[in-house]
Formats: sequence, structure tokens, C-alpha cells
Amino acid sequence: MNAHSAPTARLDVQSIKKDFPILDRRVRDDKPLVYLDSAATSQKPLQVLDAERDFYLRHNAAAHRGAHQLAEEATEAYESARQSVAAFLGAQESDIVFTRNATEAINLVAYALSNASATRPGGAPLTLGPGDEILVTEMEHHANLVPWQQLAERTGATLRWATITTEGRLDEASFDRALGERTKLVAVTHQSNVLGTINPVASLASRAHAAGALVLVDAAQSVAHQALDVTELGADFLVFSAHKMLGPNGIGALWGRQELLAEMPPFITGGSMIETVRMDRTTFLPPPQRFEAGVPLAPQAVGLAAAITYLSDLGMTAVEAHEAELTRLTLEGLAGLKGISVVGPVTTEDRGATVSFTVDGIHPHDVGQVLDDQGVAVRTGHHCARPICDRYSIPASTRASFYVYNTPEDVTALIAGIESAQRFFA
Ligand code: ALA
Repeated sequence: MNAHSAPTARLDVQSIKKDFPILDRRVRDDKPLVYLDSAATSQKPLQVLDAERDFYLRHNAAAHRGAHQLAEEATEAYESARQSVAAFLGAQESDIVFTRNATEAINLVAYALSNASATRPGGAPLTLGPGDEILVTEMEHHANLVPWQQLAERTGATLRWATITTEGRLDEASFDRALGERTKLVAVTHQSNVLGTINPVASLASRAHAAGALVLVDAAQSVAHQALDVTELGADFLVFSAHKMLGPNGIGALWGRQELLAEMPPFITGGSMIETVRMDRTTFLPPPQRFEAGVPLAPQAVGLAAAITYLSDLGMTAVEAHEAELTRLTLEGLAGLKGISVVGPVTTEDRGATVSFTVDGIHPHDVGQVLDDQGVAVRTGHHCARPICDRYSIPASTRASFYVYNTPEDVTALIAGIESAQRFFA
């Protein structure tokens, strides 16, 4: 039990909001801020800010370097953060690699695969070449698409993709058609940052494994919103960023299967990741250190661990239920307006609290601007997943995304703001 949750596991949002002073801001001519852009980045509670500040105030030193007490404390704090991440994901701590963010974690895998392909061709399963295929989906964030396009270019492999249905679900028949014995890697988002769709990752992973492919899951939009266990998902790699889960900017993580990480060549090289360096050659440490070149991100890791503690105290089941209720209210509110098209599933089933939509006759940026004038912060544009716009022949969309500090009143403000936009542009 914690201060924010009642025995029924409902979140006490008024109490949660007190931990986020930024939510008291007034914006645009003194309107109360309604923050509906957590899919882009979440706000940070005092507990996270305090943990990072305490590290700087009392323990700051370069982790994994130096024999003095502060260096020891910094190392302990960094490694204890790794344990927190591992426990949160149901993983072993040795399989957690700290990166700058989810984007860097995906690039780490992509570059490790191309480095393996260049230096030990034919060394399955980590190498690709002409004739091999990488399978993604049409709903990927650019961070889980462009690195694979580039990997295909560097190795001569072919990029293929599964399409999405009119209602914004993965077209599983198209996934199965694209998957085959040539597929070496499947990269798929757990939850779309535009559609809100939650993909059946465990099933996709087992089909991919049956075809002999590795599976990477982009969990940037899911890890903060639902209880997640890497063993149950059954993937080979999983990535996420701290800043979308109440944690600080500048840190994220890669989880990888031990036997794969052990075989992977490094991506970024330098200090901290070496075993022995001579002028003409270097040997590398085992994972996770092999993939963590440079002074470790200890203060950020401490902030991430505090975010994990905060979320765990709330209880991920309660977080998920709270967001499902806000999603239901939003979908209902939008359904009650004329001229709205939701870009993504219109029921709460297998979808998260990220709701994108278009308004007939009004450009998404104009909708966003009217909402902003009322203090309602949403994201407009292609949300770094441009192929989704192409799929639905729209220039962009307006997106509202919710988190633990949002309330039903925030949904009401969103719907009222959209109505204002419709009146303004009528
Ligand atoms: N990936 C982030 C978003 O969806 C930036 O907004």
C-alpha cells in the first residue's frame, strides 16, 4: 500500500498531482495547464527530481572508476538502479544495458548486427546479408524503422513490412505472409505512439521464432503503462526510455537475451567497455559493460530507479486501469462530436491511452493551436511515424495522451477545446 492508491487499487490522482508541481502551471493568459502529451514525454514527480539531486549533492562521482568512497557509492547507486530495472521487467540485471534512450538502444542492436555481419559473415543468428530480410510494421515510430532501413542498406538485406488495418490494428495475415525463412529479425512496437494499438507481441514473437527470426520489441510506449514481463513477451530484445515513464531525460535501456548479448560486438566503443587495450588491439568486457562506453549515466539511472519505485508503489495494474478509464471517456467524448475521425481503434480493447484524431475541415495544427489557447497541451503532426499518415491519407493528426496524473476533467477540457475549434473554424 502507498499514499496514492486505495485498497480498490484506484489511483488517488489528486494526491498524485501534488507530486508534480508543473501541473499547477498556468499557461496562455492564465489558463490552468491540462497536460495531454505524455506519449511525447511524461512529467516528473518530486521523488525523481529529489533522487537525482540527492545523488549530485551527496554521492556524485564517476561510477565504475576510482577507488575513493564517492566512486564506490556512485557505482553502487548505478548498479542498484540496474537491479530496479531488471526487477520491473522480470529480467536478470546482467541483461539490462543502460543507453541514452530507446532510440539509442535500437541503434545499438542494429549496429551490433551490422558490425557482426561485417566481421563474421555467416555467423547466425546475428549476421545479415543479401537475401536476408528484416520485418517491421507500418505503425513503427521512425526510431524503429530508420535504423532497420539503414541496416538493410549496410548489409544488403531487404526490409519488409506488415500493413495495418483500417481500424488501426496490425494486419496479422500480412505479418504472416511477410514472415518466412529469410526473415532474420522482426522489429515491432508493443504499443503504437499514434494509434494506441497494443500489438499481440507474445504471439508475434512465437511466430517469428518458429521462422528462425530474432525479435526486438519497442516498449517505449508500453513499459510505463502496463505491467510487463520480458519472459512472458518472449522477445529477444526490448527497449524503452526513462523520460516517458516519469524518469529523467538522457537514459533508457536495452534488455537482451543473455546468450545474444554475449555474442554481440559493441556499438559505441571507448572507456568503461574494455578489458585490455594495446596500441593495436582491444578486448571487450562482457555485457552489459561492453555496451556502456563512457562515464556511466549514474545520476540519470538513480532518477529512473526512483521513477520505477514511484510506479511500482502506484501498482501497474492500477495505472493501467486508470488509463483505460480515461481512454474510454475520451473515445466516448469524441464519438459524441460530429466530424471526428479517430486514427486508431475506437474501443479500449488492446489499446493504450494515446488517442489520435482528425477533425473534418480543420488542419490538425489548427486544432492543436486552439487547444493550446485553452491551456490543453496536445501533440500535432506525424508524431515521428509518418507512414501512418500515408496509410490513412492524412497530412497529420492531433494526439492526446494520458498518464497517472490526468483526470476525467482533463478529458472534458479536451472535448470542450475541440468543440471550440469547431466553432472557431465553422
Ligand atoms: N516518440 C515521442 C512521441 O510519440 C516523441 O511523441
